[in-house]
Amino acid sequence: MTSRILLTGGAGYIGSHTHVALVAAGHDVVILDNFANAQRTVPERLEQITGKRVTLVEGDVRDADTLAKLFARHEIDAVVHFAALKAVGESMARPLAYFDVNIGGLSTLLRAMDNAGCRRLVFSSSATVYGIPDEAPTPETAPFRAMNPYGQTKITGEQMLGWLQAANPEWAVGILRYFNPAGAHGSALIGEDPRDIPNNLMPFVAKVALGELPRVSVFGNDYDTADGTGVRDYIHVEDLARGHVLSLEKLLSTRQGHIVNLGTGRGYSVLEVIAAYQRATNRDIPYQITDRRPGDVPIYVARADRAVEVLGFRTEKGLDEMCASSWKWVSGLAGKA
Ligand code: NAD
Ligand code: UFG
Repeated sequence: MTSRILLTGGAGYIGSHTHVALVAAGHDVVILDNFANAQRTVPERLEQITGKRVTLVEGDVRDADTLAKLFARHEIDAVVHFAALKAVGESMARPLAYFDVNIGGLSTLLRAMDNAGCRRLVFSSSATVYGIPDEAPTPETAPFRAMNPYGQTKITGEQMLGWLQAANPEWAVGILRYFNPAGAHGSALIGEDPRDIPNNLMPFVAKVALGELPRVSVFGNDYDTADGTGVRDYIHVEDLARGHVLSLEKLLSTRQGHIVNLGTGRGYSVLEVIAAYQRATNRDIPYQITDRRPGDVPIYVARADRAVEVLGFRTEKGLDEMCASSWKWVSGLAGKA
């Protein structure tokens, strides 16, 4: 059955890939984005990939008027709420901006949805809600631990949604806790916006492979992991996008809310990622070991079985495909620059 889905932040990294997956699954999509962290070219790129017109509302998720008009104009069946600020370091320096966009934006959206009678939502959460977890792989039952204002906004968002569902059973919410999204769409038309010097490992490694940065700083090799470097559960952004389709379809067909990790259940160290990128590109990627990055977690790996049981979600693409698609995307951009 075709549904009409609103993607807040749908022009961003994960939102744009989810747009493609939803259209492929036969759904209609409306994007709301203020382009705070997205390229203006994304909508036309999405049209190239899907062969369908993109319905775009340019606006801010904190703007109640924009939302009221949007819900009055388009009959929205469900929302995926991506729009948020997401840089951990920036959140330490500018917590109010994070409270405003991530918590204020969510609250304004929920009010508008409730007014419109649209009560199915998929929420972008993060493994960061676990802080430094006691166990890895980490199950969904692990306790919340806020390590920074960004993480706090995801915990608060999840809690708000829990109370809302408790107050009104008409609400059905899918909370998706992403581990480390990586890679790009196979067409290389969309990917992670590479504007600034990246904080995250794979986009940074990509810039070193391109020769735009001299070397990767490996943040510590004295963790309690096999090679001493940090371990993460990298998940291909196309797999992640498919997880949203499954979550939405579950909400639409059963009205059953869920909280699931989206990861592969397999961790890779920083050195393994560098080696994989080197293989994918056939380029030398120099690195040096530096001090630990303050606040870093030694290991984030998902317990991935609940997503299989509840959503039938299984990842299909591995680290090599993440590196290859990332490279195709960034080297294509560099070729055009
Ligand atoms: P992104 O920055 O690429 O996408 C966010 C989009 O929201 C952008 O297009 C931006 O322009 C838009 N936006 C920001 N503020 C807005 C506002 N006030 N009104 C309307 N639009 C606004 O980020 P992403 O990586 O695609 O992340 C999407 C979601 O997933 C976020 O909620 C993020 O916290 C969460 N998440 C991301 C990661 C990750 O590593 N990328 C990990 C876990 C969770
Ligand atoms: N790392 C380096 N050098 C770099 C960048 C990263 O060694 O230049 C290491 C980190 O120390 C860590 C691993 O590579 O061990 C991954 O780091 P990322 O910054 O790519 O990702 P994080 O797991 O630290 O953080 C990401 C998101 C957060 C989110 C978290 C959990 O950036 O927003 O995943 O979902 F909270």
